[in-house]
Amino acid sequence: MCGIVGALSKNAQKIVLEGLSRLEYRGYDSAGLAVQSENGTVHTRKATGKLAALRAEIEQNPLPAAALAIGHTRWATHGSATTVNAHPHSSHGPAPKVTVVHNGIIENYEELKAELKAEGYTFVSETDTETLPCLLSWALAQGQSEAEALALLTTRCRGNYAVLAVVEGAKGTRLLATRRGAPLCLGLGKGGENFVASDPLALASVTDKFVYLEDNDTVVITPEKTEVRDASGTPVTRPVQVLNLADDMAGKQGYKHFMLKEMMEQPAVAARILEAYTKDGEVQLPLTAAHAAAPAITIVACGTAYYAGMVGGYMLEELAEVPTQADVASEMRYRKKPYPKGGLMIVVSQSGETADTLAALEHAKAAGQTIIALTNVTTSSIARAAHVVIDLMAGREVAVASTKAFLAMVLVLQLVALKLAALNGQQNAATVASHLKDIHLLPMHLMNILAEAPKWEPIAEKLASAKNPTHSMLYLARGMLTPLAYEGALKMKEITYIHAEGYASGEMKHGPIALVDETLPVVNIAASNDGLFEKTISNLKEVEARHGQIILIVDEEGAKQLSYPSPTPQIPGSYPAPTHPYLIITPSVPRLLLPYTHLLPLQFLAYQTAVFKGTDVDQPRNLAKSVTVE
Ligand code: M6R
Repeated sequence: MCGIVGALSKNAQKIVLEGLSRLEYRGYDSAGLAVQSENGTVHTRKATGKLAALRAEIEQNPLPAAALAIGHTRWATHGSATTVNAHPHSSHGPAPKVTVVHNGIIENYEELKAELKAEGYTFVSETDTETLPCLLSWALAQGQSEAEALALLTTRCRGNYAVLAVVEGAKGTRLLATRRGAPLCLGLGKGGENFVASDPLALASVTDKFVYLEDNDTVVITPEKTEVRDASGTPVTRPVQVLNLADDMAGKQGYKHFMLKEMMEQPAVAARILEAYTKDGEVQLPLTAAHAAAPAITIVACGTAYYAGMVGGYMLEELAEVPTQADVASEMRYRKKPYPKGGLMIVVSQSGETADTLAALEHAKAAGQTIIALTNVTTSSIARAAHVVIDLMAGREVAVASTKAFLAMVLVLQLVALKLAALNGQQNAATVASHLKDIHLLPMHLMNILAEAPKWEPIAEKLASAKNPTHSMLYLARGMLTPLAYEGALKMKEITYIHAEGYASGEMKHGPIALVDETLPVVNIAASNDGLFEKTISNLKEVEARHGQIILIVDEEGAKQLSYPSPTPQIPGSYPAPTHPYLIITPSVPRLLLPYTHLLPLQFLAYQTAVFKGTDVDQPRNLAKSVTVE
């Protein structure tokens, strides 16, 4: 989603452009940069599309030398992706002229706009952002200090935001910043330099020292110092964190796409998690008997993290026997839910910055729930707001379509379930050790499956071809594998733009079966040992009877029992429809490992189809890696 970078340095422009390019993976549709030259004048350049377009614009219309620059990548919310709507935005009206970049949404911008118009300000864009420079300009014109003007933003603006501002004609080189809900951190330079960004990664080449700002903090940043005040206006010192971002800066390492690299890393991710969180047949997580005594657990997350949470819910109920409900954060945050006394909320988020997930966390925390955050970024807002933080250890995920983080989420949730089960007595030491013995074979199973992936390319090639007239797909599964149907369909939608729906197989007769004809690809996810095999296969037969194009992901034993010829001579997408399903065979594994072994083919099917279609795999249209607005 949107990215912010600011620099006070003699190389300000270069540092900001480089910082923005590090944030490119997050998804955006326009970009802009402003510099303040020595005489205090602010100069802005903007362009729609990728950063290359902004660089070209700057090459055509060079900016003056400057020791201050602010930059932004915009993911459109209010107003489409045009140059006028791109950031930075400046105030138009009474002096001083203020220029800002902004992440988030100002919910009461219409009301503010009306007030500011009455004060003589005019507006040129469709954005909510434009109210911010005007409000700051108005406050400064009233004689308020920079800190007071920033404080006015925090009291007058509703919504979540991170804002960076520069005032034309200001004495010396100074940046103003504030945040609420959206992330913003200061990067401390070695002397005569300071930086600020919405993600420390943007500043990885210039500093390793960061200060995370709290909600409603206001900051005046000069090359020499950073003056932070809290919501009451009192000067405060926030802790300095030293971050080693070297691994996060690693590129594609020879892979064609980040998504492919990240899928291939999954055996290593599983091994890393098991190494960190298990020892001598026991789970080692910072969970206590008090956590295990919770009468109920709520899991909240969005998108892929939500589907991982659903799988985790099945595991928690089965292993720890604690009633568990997974819900999407955007719904949970507004529910009038009677949380149980002493209840646990498990918050799952790769980025740790997802706005809805953070809001659901705060909602439950205010209701007295103990919050356990599973996140891949332990310095994130979600990690900082939780009572207990468990690192997902997936390593930075760059591709917008989440893959290795899903696997990490499910695995860590499984370990949480085993730990709680050991603590609340639902599993004895021997059964926990036996589960862990099975789980330790996971990296090996995953490696074996990855070796099979090239075999699935012909299916993907067919799926990518225009021969599928409905341009739609159905994914079906039962039980603990049902969330995989949702996740498989989500992956396919995200990166191929083929419409795909995930359904619990048992629901098919209640509607989606109307879609099935000889042109519809239907991915069936089945396992001989999940206790539901016969029922899943009955649903598959119903699709077969209507000549649907079946892709069956099934374990080796299940494939044997079905005795379809393998490999199938015809593949989905052939007309007329093949007489029997195309099989993707996974190893036979203990039941609780099925969510992992059946996951990989789903990820690859989407990836390979996208490659055949030629879509932008790592940065699909309209999507953002970290969804920091509601
Ligand atoms: O960073 P989070 O895990 O909180 O992100 C949640 C979703 O936005 C994310 O999983 C999204 O659905 C992905 N693009 C899925 O591939």
